[in-house]
Amino acid sequence: MKIIRSPAAMTAWSEGLRREGVTIGLVPTMGALHEGHRSLIREARLQCDALVVSIFVNPTQFGPREDLTKYPRPLSHDRAICRQEGVDVCFEPTVEAMYPAGFQTTVIVPAVARRWEGEARPHHFAGVATVVTKLFGMVRPHRALFGQKDFQQSVLVQQLVKDLNLGVDIVVRPTVREQDGLAMSSRNIYLSPNERRRAVVLYKGLQTGAKVIRTGETDARIIRSAMTQVIKGEPTLTIDYLAVCDPTTLEPLSTVRPKTLLLGAARIGTVRLIDNLAVSAIQGQRNY
Ligand code: PAF
Repeated sequence: MKIIRSPAAMTAWSEGLRREGVTIGLVPTMGALHEGHRSLIREARLQCDALVVSIFVNPTQFGPREDLTKYPRPLSHDRAICRQEGVDVCFEPTVEAMYPAGFQTTVIVPAVARRWEGEARPHHFAGVATVVTKLFGMVRPHRALFGQKDFQQSVLVQQLVKDLNLGVDIVVRPTVREQDGLAMSSRNIYLSPNERRRAVVLYKGLQTGAKVIRTGETDARIIRSAMTQVIKGEPTLTIDYLAVCDPTTLEPLSTVRPKTLLLGAARIGTVRLIDNLAVSAIQGQRNY
């Protein structure tokens, strides 16, 4: 496995392969790789001839009071996972290479970024959209894989690829969960054992919402209230938002549609959890 740090060297590697007709896949990450990343890497390995995993803790997507400095950076563990999974290149640009002196451009996807995570973390999505655009420019992938856990991020990336004609095929893969259902996240390591046991209640709330929809309930207020009740039953969790929304626009719904997205964020101690469930309201179909 090659480790490439310079954007120019990364692009040269990819361009050489593109000329030979090789399909290049990219799994963009901020490192601290877990089973969710591993499943994206495995899928990318199946779908693409050559595979790049980028590891870059992107400062512009962290708010001033967020965890940029303490964000986990277990680089040798991450490289070991990439080697095990047959990754061809670990792309590890430096902050200086990504944002050199004089850097000016920001990519904004206003409507998708407005609500939910965008409200809670005002500059987050501009940081994500800008770095993803830059990574695509540097790696020149044919296909890039993202996890459904960050649902709003995946909608944003699809929108920007379409709007800017980036020509990258975006693949979104299901959330990988711990045995009790907690969505895998690099930030779960911040949870104390006690918080870790309770953190699953966010997912339980979303599952309750999905069950209520499957009983035939269509009123979003009733579904939200059922989810809220479950999560409030665990007083160590503070709800940031719980939403019943359209999976394409992320706008809140008053009545469920055949495809409805349940989105949630909650705090436990210093950790912010996010999760979602895409639910089919069509009789006999489960989550999609
Ligand atoms: O999902 C992430 O890990 C990050 O937001 C991404 C897409 C790698 C951009 O920094």
